[in-house]
Amino acid sequence: MHSIDDVRQILLAEVADSQIPRDVLKSKELKGLYSKIASIDPSERAAFGKAVNELKNDIEVAINARESALEDAAVVALDVTAPWDINSKLPDLLPTEQGSQHPLTTELEVVIDIFTRMGFEAVESRQIDDDFHMFGALNFPENHPARDGYDTFRTEEGFIPPAHTSTMQHRVLKDGKAKLEAGGQIAAISYGRVFRNEDVDATHEHTFYQCEGVFVSESATLGDMLGTLRSFFEAYYGQELKIKTQPAYFPFVEPGLEFAIEKPASLGGKPGEWLEMLGCGMIHPNVLSAAGIDPSKYQGFAWGGGVDRLVMLKYGIEDLRHFESGKLQFLRKF
Ligand code: DAH
Repeated sequence: MHSIDDVRQILLAEVADSQIPRDVLKSKELKGLYSKIASIDPSERAAFGKAVNELKNDIEVAINARESALEDAAVVALDVTAPWDINSKLPDLLPTEQGSQHPLTTELEVVIDIFTRMGFEAVESRQIDDDFHMFGALNFPENHPARDGYDTFRTEEGFIPPAHTSTMQHRVLKDGKAKLEAGGQIAAISYGRVFRNEDVDATHEHTFYQCEGVFVSESATLGDMLGTLRSFFEAYYGQELKIKTQPAYFPFVEPGLEFAIEKPASLGGKPGEWLEMLGCGMIHPNVLSAAGIDPSKYQGFAWGGGVDRLVMLKYGIEDLRHFESGKLQFLRKF
């Protein structure tokens, strides 16, 4: 029969080595010590029993430590930055094709690139806004029928998913005011998703993209605006273009215009086939005043139009609905 110290040494070594350390509590050495208690001389029995119990406690402490060490070792390090196939144990069940950037995102990057190279700062528009930025700050009188033309959605709380990127004009003007007064100019575009409560067809979507531009200085003119827009469209389509404008009404500009380009022959156009690309004009004095800019000292122009439309013309896409459809057959073409 082993002494208590011998048993301690043997069992602690076993715990340290075992994959199921708790089984050590059932070992014959420990059972042997417990069954020996009855045969110990009564004068020493209590002390012996206490020593055996202490040994059992020590072994349990060692078992707990060994168990948590085993658990820690069982956790596989997961590299969240690795491609899926490194972490996955089931590669056959996962897609093997790489995804790609949506064509509208790619084209929006092209648009932003052209304008930033022309000196415009680019700001993403908001996807939830309010009545003031949608209408009030843009010189739409209360209850004016022009508000109806925008088919706005509204949340129950009265917020508006913006129906145009012009919602950003007031913010851009306010943010740029200091720069203007320090002798500089405001030159910014805002781009992003807009939403309209319309029946969906090949040329109408409830969700689409717009890009808006704002330029303000002491001497900005309509001619500057036409030059800026022509430069943009010629850069985007990579060729010289014919442009024309016709009067249009938007409460936030005076005069207001619709801007059209002649559809280039290289994109299937015939002479005299005009495509309306955007709305534009000289910023209304009330819009400048609302942002704290003195309209007797500063003037500017603004424009806004659909990005989807630009892209449709560039690639000969016939149906606007493809963009939001998630159809892989369509997306794989880009
Ligand atoms: N926000 C107008 C729309 O969505 C387009 C527009 C017209 C923007 C004239 C402008 C502008 O900045 O000056 O119909």
